[in-house]
Amino acid sequence: MKIASAVLLGTLLITQTSVSFADNSNGKNLYSQRCAVCHGADIKGTGPLAHKSNPPTPDLTTSAFKKRLNEYPGVIVSSIILRPNGNLIPKTLKENGVKIPPHAWSVKDLRDLHEYMSGVISIKR
Ligand code: HEC
Repeated sequence: MKIASAVLLGTLLITQTSVSFADNSNGKNLYSQRCAVCHGADIKGTGPLAHKSNPPTPDLTTSAFKKRLNEYPGVIVSSIILRPNGNLIPKTLKENGVKIPPHAWSVKDLRDLHEYMSGVISIKR
C-alpha cells in the first residue's frame, strides 16, 4: 500500500507541474549536487562514479529511457522516493568517499528535479 501511494503521489505531482525549463535553477542545482556525480552533467552516465557500481550508471538520454519516461512519467521521482536499487547508491558513495548530505525533499524539489531532467533528456541531439 505504501509503495502504491508513493507512486501515485509521484504521478500526481508530475501532472500538476508548471515550472518552465528555463528558470528552473532549483531542479538544476539539486541535480548537480545530488545526481551528477554518477549520472554526469549531460545525464549520459558520465559522472566520475558512473563506473564504480555494478550495474554501472545508465545513460538516461537513450531512446529506450525516453520511452520509459514517456510511458511512466513517475520514474525519476520514484527512483528518489522508492530507491528501487536499495543500498546501491549510498554504498557506491561511501566506498568512494563521496559525501552527499541528507536532504529533506519538498514537493517542489521533486517537481523541479523531474522537470529539469525531463527537459535535458528530451533535447534532440
Ligand atoms: C552513486 C551513483 C548514483 C547517484 C548519486 C544517483 N544515481 Fe541514479 N542510478 C545509478 C545507477 C547505478 C543506476 C542503475 C541501477 C538501477 O537502476 O538499479 C541508476 C538509475 C537511475 C534511474 C533509472 C531508473 C529506472 O528505473 O530506469 C533514474 C531515473 C535515476 N537513477 C535518477 C537519479 C536521480 C534523480 C539522482 C539524484 C537525486 C540519482 N539517480 C543519483 C547511480 C546513481
